[in-house]
Amino acid sequence: MKLIIDTDPGVDDAMALLMALASPELEILGLTTVFGNATTETTTANALTILEAAGRADIPVAVGATKPIASNYLGPVPQVHGANGLGGMTPTTPATSPIDEPAADFIHRTVTANPGQVTIVALGPLTNLAVAFDHYPDVCELVRQVVVMGGNALVPGNATPTAEANINNDPEAADLVFGAGWPVTMVGLDVTHQINLTGDAIDRITAPDTAPAGLLRSALPAYRSFFEQTNHIDGIYLHDPATIAYLLQPDAFTTQAWPLRVETESFSRGKTWPNLGDTDEAAPAAWQHRPLIDVCTGVNATQVAAAVEDRLTRT
Ligand code: RIB
Ligand code: CA
Repeated sequence: MKLIIDTDPGVDDAMALLMALASPELEILGLTTVFGNATTETTTANALTILEAAGRADIPVAVGATKPIASNYLGPVPQVHGANGLGGMTPTTPATSPIDEPAADFIHRTVTANPGQVTIVALGPLTNLAVAFDHYPDVCELVRQVVVMGGNALVPGNATPTAEANINNDPEAADLVFGAGWPVTMVGLDVTHQINLTGDAIDRITAPDTAPAGLLRSALPAYRSFFEQTNHIDGIYLHDPATIAYLLQPDAFTTQAWPLRVETESFSRGKTWPNLGDTDEAAPAAWQHRPLIDVCTGVNATQVAAAVEDRLTRT
């Protein structure tokens, strides 16, 4: 399965990237970077660092948007992902550089060269995907599927009481992406807040004397402390890695097909609102003629956590 991964590394992005790199079923054609957990400059450096740690500096990194399509960047979240976006890890200057091609152009060129074969995995705000769709509407016909870590259909948010962080970072882009017509699966808080990777599993993943395990050994302690203090759990919730688990073991998830809108106003800004059950004709106007999104509503959390540990201990 050919992938483009759009990412804002980010500790859990690093876990997802290393998990994908350790999975022979997956072929990463490139990364595209975006603001979110940190600035785009930082997320790009982190993406390059992660690929170098995995010995995959051959994978191209295309730099994407530095701000949302219609608002200002909310700013980094050092309290979650650390000052440099990778937890307590000492900042390193990557030896490699991104390619000159902007993210949206890289996405279009790559899906055009591989029609119907490329899955876009979005691990950050959906700005780059919205720009790609705006510049090249045919991407919707050319991709195999889009898998988004983001949103919250039937549960509260994590960035605000109503909104999940990736969607909250660019609600306008998300509303465009969920309405564009490409096949989209939403792996949101409805399932990722059910998937706990325990402290013991983290210890097993970070034990090996390898560069990827060493990177996670530096990055994870601060991230783990955030969850222990805010969610009072032992370990972490698996947000971004859940998308990779979905690609590898889709049967571990159950989905519902709903049209989605994204709130862009008021204190609910960033909330993903499904219309449950109506036919298109009976749907309220805002949801009429919207494509159906496969929203993950259930998960075998034990199976997913085991899959994440299994792949990350192969690095
Ligand atoms: O809400 C979790 C999402 O926001 C994850 O992608 C995390 O990396 C942050 O980007
Ligand atoms: Ca992310």
